[in-house]
Amino acid sequence: MTDNTAVAGSNTAPGDASTASTTPATAADTPGERRLPKITVVGAGNVGATTGLLLVLRELADVVLIDIAEGVARGKALDIMQMRSNERFGPRISGTGSYADTANSDIVVVTAGIPRRPGMTREELLEINSGIVRSVLNGALEASPNALYVFVTNPLDVMCNLAWEIASSSPAALPPARLMGMGGVLDTARFIHAIAEATGAEPAEIEALVVGAHGEAMVPLAQRARVGGRPLNELLSAEQIKSVVDATVNGGAAVVELLQTGSAFYAPASSIVQMVTELLQPTGKILSVCARLNGEYGISDVSICVPVRLGKNGVEEVVELELAPAELSQLRASAEATKQQLGRL
Ligand code: LAC
Repeated sequence: MTDNTAVAGSNTAPGDASTASTTPATAADTPGERRLPKITVVGAGNVGATTGLLLVLRELADVVLIDIAEGVARGKALDIMQMRSNERFGPRISGTGSYADTANSDIVVVTAGIPRRPGMTREELLEINSGIVRSVLNGALEASPNALYVFVTNPLDVMCNLAWEIASSSPAALPPARLMGMGGVLDTARFIHAIAEATGAEPAEIEALVVGAHGEAMVPLAQRARVGGRPLNELLSAEQIKSVVDATVNGGAAVVELLQTGSAFYAPASSIVQMVTELLQPTGKILSVCARLNGEYGISDVSICVPVRLGKNGVEEVVELELAPAELSQLRASAEATKQQLGRL
């Protein structure tokens, strides 16, 4: 991550920056003036645009929205900028179709890809979205070789593994710590919501985590979950806990069924912003993030959602919590399933 004044690297962005730039990429980078972090959000669909909106509303960063549909990126950015006088936020958001405008980003969030339609699993998106992730990563890495990369495109864990393979073999080899995926934070948010609904507790009183692949094989850690410090099985019956776990695993599909024309975006965008906040202003909070494993939890050579601490360098630490034996074997099975899907690419 760059500091507040330095401009990272001496990389050359694709295209000619002097002609490609149709909109200002960030606030002025005047010498001596404190620069806000620059975050590129790739994909100006619902998840990407809502992420951009939250990032500027929270004043976390200047944002560049990039999309192959340049008009959509520019239109949504302009729409958000027109909120500034009402909402009084300082950061700027711009839209573009050119990676030149994303150069030297501190963080790149990749949301590009097609979403699920009713009845589809995230895994069915594999083929088309893997091509999208390949081309996005090549463009973004050339423009921002020093950035932290947060992947969101589904199927999430497989995409993170693919991104890891591309990034580790590219000339600008990206250390694994700088490449992560958002899935576990969203699944955890849904788990906490389901627990709150079932117990009547406030989300703030609930401690819970979901690990494993962001898909049907996710592992809500029910045995570790606490409400006001009490284990879940003191408050809910086994049957109720099973419903809470089912509501968590099916949380995304339930939204897809209702919308009929796309998948969830408010909770996903909010989950991205949780991760970004922790990357920019680390508090040491444990988040479930798709990260590269080298023996942690008895799992190696694969990226999957596990408890981590994020910080300025990306994934600073994989936290090895003591898991119930059944939950640990589910996590390992989820990692195995991810490896098999990757093998099919
Ligand atoms: C979901 C999609 C974003 O879980 O994976 O809603």
